[in-house]
Parts: sequence; structure tokens; C-alpha cells
Amino acid sequence: MCGIIGYCGPRPAAPILIEGLKRLEYRGYDSAGICVADHEVLTVFKKKGKIAELRKVVPAKLPGCYGIGHTRWATHGEVNDINAHPHVDEKNDIAIVHNGIIENYTSLREKLEEEGHVFHTQTDSEVIAYLIADLYEGDLERAVKQAVQLLKGTYGIVCMHRNEPGLLIGARNGSPLVLGIGDDEMFLGSDVTAIIAHTKQVVYVEDGEVVAVRADGFITTDLRDRSVDKKVETITWELQEIEKEGFDHFMQKEIFEQSQTILRALQGRLDHENGTGKLDGLNMSKQELHSIERVKIFAAGTSYHAGLLASYLLENIARIPCTTELASELRYRNPLVERNTVYFAVSQSGETADTLYAMRELQRKGARVLGICNVVGSTIPRESDGGVYIHSGPEIAVASTKAFTSQLTAFYLFTLLMARMRHMSLDQGRVFIRHLESVPDLVSATLAKAGELKVLAKKYSVAQDFLFLGRGTNYPVALEGALKLKEISYIHAEGYSAAEIKHGPIALINEKTPSLFLVPNDSLRDKVISNMKEVKARKGKVIAISVEGDNEVADIADDVFAVPAADELIHPFLMVVPLQLLAYYCALELGRDVDQPRNLAKSVTVE
Ligand code: F6R
Repeated sequence: MCGIIGYCGPRPAAPILIEGLKRLEYRGYDSAGICVADHEVLTVFKKKGKIAELRKVVPAKLPGCYGIGHTRWATHGEVNDINAHPHVDEKNDIAIVHNGIIENYTSLREKLEEEGHVFHTQTDSEVIAYLIADLYEGDLERAVKQAVQLLKGTYGIVCMHRNEPGLLIGARNGSPLVLGIGDDEMFLGSDVTAIIAHTKQVVYVEDGEVVAVRADGFITTDLRDRSVDKKVETITWELQEIEKEGFDHFMQKEIFEQSQTILRALQGRLDHENGTGKLDGLNMSKQELHSIERVKIFAAGTSYHAGLLASYLLENIARIPCTTELASELRYRNPLVERNTVYFAVSQSGETADTLYAMRELQRKGARVLGICNVVGSTIPRESDGGVYIHSGPEIAVASTKAFTSQLTAFYLFTLLMARMRHMSLDQGRVFIRHLESVPDLVSATLAKAGELKVLAKKYSVAQDFLFLGRGTNYPVALEGALKLKEISYIHAEGYSAAEIKHGPIALINEKTPSLFLVPNDSLRDKVISNMKEVKARKGKVIAISVEGDNEVADIADDVFAVPAADELIHPFLMVVPLQLLAYYCALELGRDVDQPRNLAKSVTVE
């Protein structure tokens, strides 16, 4: 979604702002702009389309050492130059960039119009610039504080005034804002990727805080002017992690990183001696872990699929009742919070609005909510009651891949921990660990056969519709495969339980609609084979993701990709990798923008 960058320091601001915007591209956007101040004049450049379009209109040597920039993902008003940020007031005194949604902008705008103000854009954000200008009496910080108290909705705002050179004011309510501390220079960003090239020292601005930033320092206060002590934190990500490092796309890089990222998610969390998992971040005593009677998981998109898979693991292996629900549904159905129940909010970004708001509602009702997140310092881990960081490193491609397998890893560890506290024996625990430790190498072996999926993609990317079918723990994997394909190739795809096709989807089967079956060598294999035969009998094309050496499946299917033989427990890791690669290669075949698919955003911070 939208991205923010701000700079004040000794260097020319424009190149720094544009480079920051470039790093924010991954969030998804449709227009971009910057505002730079020089000699008390604010100059704004903004363009629909990619940063390359913006670059064309920004002079190479633009003077001015402080400014703000923004990538916009349209919510209010069409995608055009005018609606792009930054927005200025009528006198060009104030410029603002805004992430989030102002819910009461219509009434605020009407009031300002009655007073004679004339608006130029269709956005909800322009009203913020007008409000601040209206309230300004020589103190930008004060005007911002007064203005934001009139806003309803969410915002991460950075603004500047031509009469207060070198000063940026940032404010946050619901949309992330992070301050980067450099050597005699300061940065503001909507996330650390915008600033990591310049500094690793950051301060996270919290909801209800306002930060006044100058090149030599910053002051954080709340809306009642009380000063707030902020902790300076160090980002652990390296700059190269947000670069492609020889890969054609971030998605390709992230798929191929998975053997290492799974390993990273496991590191330090296996207790070989006691045959169990160690998850200290849960912040729960042994007694509290013992008393868990139910687990409830909520999330969106790919994270939801990881959570759904976890519900199979927790019930089957740890024998703890577990349900998984879409966060967006959970939030609005006035959920009952039961005793001895722990909740998991799963989110790569840690900022997804649906998941965050569901978490807050559960916490208001007294629930203990744990987070499974990737982005360190993001809102869900900060507000949750404990949790697990998956340590995948930055996931830049919009389509989530490595976060999924690391989220699974975290849930496998939690399942082990729960099972060992209940019925699982020491020996069984040690065997579980052995299987889990074999995953990175088996994932590498699967990735080594990526070329086969490239060939399959050539053959099948002409399809208009696709079915993904699996059972048991591979049912959520089928859902994930369908989501990956549709979001980056735009081929219509549906995921179902293989058993479910006879209840409806089989009506779609014809020679042009391929069905991809997940057929690991597990207890449901024979049943899935029967479902494959039902499709074949109706002249449907069948692709099978099976296990090396399974000749029966190879004989039935039109095409097969075989993953290495492994224990049933860890099949989902091996089954999902070919689906990620198939989606990637299909998207390439079709010439799609793999890393930034149309209409999508990386971190969905609006409802
Ligand atoms: C799919 C995808 C999305 C996200 C969803 C939740 O590839 O990336 O479906 O999984 O928007 O995002 P997080 O995990 O950041 O909460």
C-alpha cells in the first residue's frame, strides 16, 4: 500500500526521496510524488505510474535539503497526477503525505468549502493539508496536533511548512511510521526498507504520538504535549536482503531462499535433549502452556492458509482443538472469548489492518493473543501478548512465499511443544525434530528441479481456469497454490479439497481446465487417486505433484512433478514449493509484472 519517505539533513533531498520511493515500490502503488523545500518555497512533483515517470519530471539538480515523498495506492479518487501525494494547501505553504484513510473527510471538506476553500483533488488526504493550514499560527507541530484531533480514521502523516525550514512533523494513528537516525540527518519512512540504505538506528512512532524532526535531533510528544521517551532500536536486516542479488525477480529470489529461511526459523528453537520446541517469545510459563485447552488462529490471505494448515497439525498431533478463521470475519462477529484459549494472529507484515483490528478486539475482550510475524517492530508483534518472529528477512515480492513456509515452521514448533507437554513421548519428539530438520535439504532438492516446472508452465499457462486439489494438510496447500497462481498470473484458479469436487466444481471440468492434484504418499493418497480418475473420466487434464517413485500416479496423470520422498508430517513444505514455482513461471510466460501484480499491495493497511 502507500509508502512514505521524509528527509532532512545536509544533502540534497530529491535523490534520497526518489531512492526511498524506489525501495517502497514493493508495497504496490499507482503514482508517486515528492515535495522539496528551498529558500522557503515548496516545489512539488507528482506523476501517475512508476517512479521512472516521476524521475523524468524532477530536475537532476534540484536544490533543497529537506522534503517528503510518497507512493500512492489509490483508495479515494482515480489514479492520476493530481490525486498523487504530496498534497499542499491553497497557498502552497504546507505539504503533506498521508497513508491510511480519513473516514470523516467528506464532512471536514464540506465545512472547509463552506468557509470558501477550494479543493483540487478527489482524495481524502488533501483535507489534512487544508486543516493544518487553517489552524497554523506559526507553529507547525501545534497545528498538526490540533488537526489530527479532528480526523477520524487512520493516518501516518509527514508534513512540512515553508516557513519552518528543516523541520518535518510526523504523526501516527494506525498507519506505521518509523524514524531513521543518521549522522546529522534524519529520515522518516512508512517502513524500514525506505531508510535502511542510510541507517539502521530507528525509532518506531506509536499511535497518538507526534514527532518533530530536524537534522540534528527529534522530539516525540503525545497529543497533549507530554514528552514521550523513545527507545532507539537497531534493524537487523542487511541492505542486500532488499536487493535482487542476481535473481530476475524478488519472488524468484524469495522462493529459492526458502531452505535457508526455514532453517533460520528453526534456529535456537529445537531442544534435542528433551525432544521439544523452545519458543521463549510466547511469554508463557509452563503452567500456562499446560492449561491451553483450545487454539484459535486468525489471519488473511497466505497467512490464513498457514494458519489453516496449523489447525490440522495442532488437532492431529498435539490433540488440541484448533480452528482458523479469516481475521476480517472474526472482527465483526462479536467473537466469544473462551477460557484457556490462546489466539494466534498470523501476519508476514505485522501491519495487515484486518488482522490487527481483530487482534485488538479480542484483546479488548480479555483474550491472550500471540503473534506469528516476520517484520520486527511492526504493530502486531508490538501489541500482541507474545509470539514468534519467523526471521525470514524482508519479503519484497507482493506474493508471499518464504513467509508461508516459515510461518508453517513456527506452527510445527508450537505443535511439538504442545504435544510434548501432553501425550507425545520423548522418542516421538526426537523423531519429530529429525523430520523437521530434514526440511531445508528436501526443499533444496525440490528447488533443484525448478526447470521441470518451467516446462509445465509453458504448456499450461494458456489455461483460463485452474483447479488446485488436495486433502488433509495439503488442502490448505491447494488453496495457497490457487492464490499464488491467480494473484500473479491472473489465471482464474480455485483451491478445493479433492473430495469436494464431486459436490460442485467437477461441473467445470473439461479439456481446457487443468486440475492440479497434490498426491503425497499419505493415508489419503488412494482417495485422491480416485478423485484424479474422476477428473480423467471427464476428459480433464491432470497435473500431479506426487512423490518420487510413485508410478501409479505418474501413469494416471498427464504430467507429474515428483518431490523427494519424505515423512508425511513434512509433505506440505515440499508440496507448496512446486506450486509457488509454477505460479512464478506461468506469470513469466504471460509477461506479467511478477513482483508487483496489478491492483495488489504488499502490506494491506486498510480494511
Ligand atoms: C498473498 C499475499 C496476501 C497476504 C495477506 C496477508 O501472496 O501476500 O494474501 O498474505 O495480505 O498479509 P500479512 O501476512 O502481511 O498479514
